[in-house]
Amino acid sequence: MNIYELIKKRKSVRNYKPKVVEKKKLERILNSALLAPSAKNKQEWRFVVVSDKEKRKKLSIAAKNQNSLLEAPIVIACCAKTDNYEMTCGQKSYPIDLSIIIDHITLLAVEEGLGTCWIGAFHENEAKKILDIPNNVRIVELLTLGYPSDDSIKEKNRLSFDEVIKYEKWNNN
Ligand SMILES: Cc1cc2nc3c(=O)[nH]c(=O)nc-3n(C[C@H](O)[C@H](O)[C@H](O)COP(=O)(O)O)c2cc1C
Repeated sequence: MNIYELIKKRKSVRNYKPKVVEKKKLERILNSALLAPSAKNKQEWRFVVVSDKEKRKKLSIAAKNQNSLLEAPIVIACCAKTDNYEMTCGQKSYPIDLSIIIDHITLLAVEEGLGTCWIGAFHENEAKKILDIPNNVRIVELLTLGYPSDDSIKEKNRLSFDEVIKYEKWNNN
């Protein structure tokens, strides 16, 4: 698939087949994602790949009982081992860097016939306890990964081009 097709096909997958994700596939995805850019090339990202059912059950509770964490054969805790570096623009780099690499993972997953869903609705401290993640590490997102139970392309509900894109200067059009 080319990049345009991948972007169109990616969707949030909340229902998964029980099929196991092949380790080779998972590692191919993660290895490619590691080529993502990061501020100062700090690469603060770290990942905890969770397939253990008991841990996924606990994570789903920490994620406000979202069942997709239990249904997906894999949940990835997308973490930052960070010194809280702040760029000149005033933004912390770690959530941005994590977002880039997570997006790479979501698109690579589509190329491999897999689906994902970003999970931001979770209690970080509870999730950290479940996975023995130390205090100085943040969990930025959880990501579910597996074979989607439904392969159809989902209609996207998005703002129009004109609402979002402005040329040369900000205007209210
Ligand atoms: C940062 C972030 C956090 C999200 N958190 C959740 C979540 O906790 N649970 C969930 O079901 N979907 C979550 N989503 C998925 C969004 O709801 C979804 O991306 C959006 O509705 C657009 O749909 P699409 O991904 O199918 O195109 C999250 C997405 C992002 C980018």
